[in-house]
Amino acid sequence: MLILIICTFLAVFVPANPQRSFLDQQDDEEEQPRSYAFQRTRSLNGGYATDGDSKINDEVYRIFMLTILDGFNIFKIKAYNDRSFIYLTRRDYWLGDRYYYMDNYYYLPTRDSCAYRMNETERQHLFYEEDNMPIFDIIYQCQRYQEYCCGLNCCKIDQIGRHDYPRKPPKYPWEDPWHHNSASYSSQLPFAIIIISVFNFFT
Ligand SMILES: *[C@@H]1O[C@H](CO)[C@@H](O)[C@H](O)[C@H]1NC(C)=O
Repeated sequence: MLILIICTFLAVFVPANPQRSFLDQQDDEEEQPRSYAFQRTRSLNGGYATDGDSKINDEVYRIFMLTILDGFNIFKIKAYNDRSFIYLTRRDYWLGDRYYYMDNYYYLPTRDSCAYRMNETERQHLFYEEDNMPIFDIIYQCQRYQEYCCGLNCCKIDQIGRHDYPRKPPKYPWEDPWHHNSASYSSQLPFAIIIISVFNFFT
């Protein structure tokens, strides 16, 4: 009798479930809007590039604007005041592609150069002093053969030439300079409280 019930269960329920979830999955895929956004990051040496982590990109952009504008409302970029070292990623960034390669001390021809295209909002106040032309790109450099352009950062190429993307999360939250995990702690807190109160209830 028990065997009969198990067989009936297997025959009726087991094939039905994968099929249903398969159909659900198809529906989900079709409902999701597809984004055809252009890739914003490119390698000026013709190498591989991705847009990397948008949180890091936004933060680097924010810090870069703070330092390059230095608290003034100067939106005109002169030659040789277009570079900034950003500690978050420990890299130099140039605003615009007009002068960076003349920056002999900081620009290294042995490295690969990357360009990150700012969107309309990000570049709306940025012009060259010389001729008032708009500035489109932020330029930075990555270690040739070891790194590739990855948003406003460099990502590692591993020893057998694979592009290591997405970047590995840090093993411990306090290793994370961008505090990605701080938000998830606050969302776990209510569950922790429930578990603790249930535990107290039974003891
Ligand atoms: C430009 O990018 C910023 C940061 O990613 C975003 O907040 C903003 O909405 C974008 N603007 C446009 C016009 O896409």
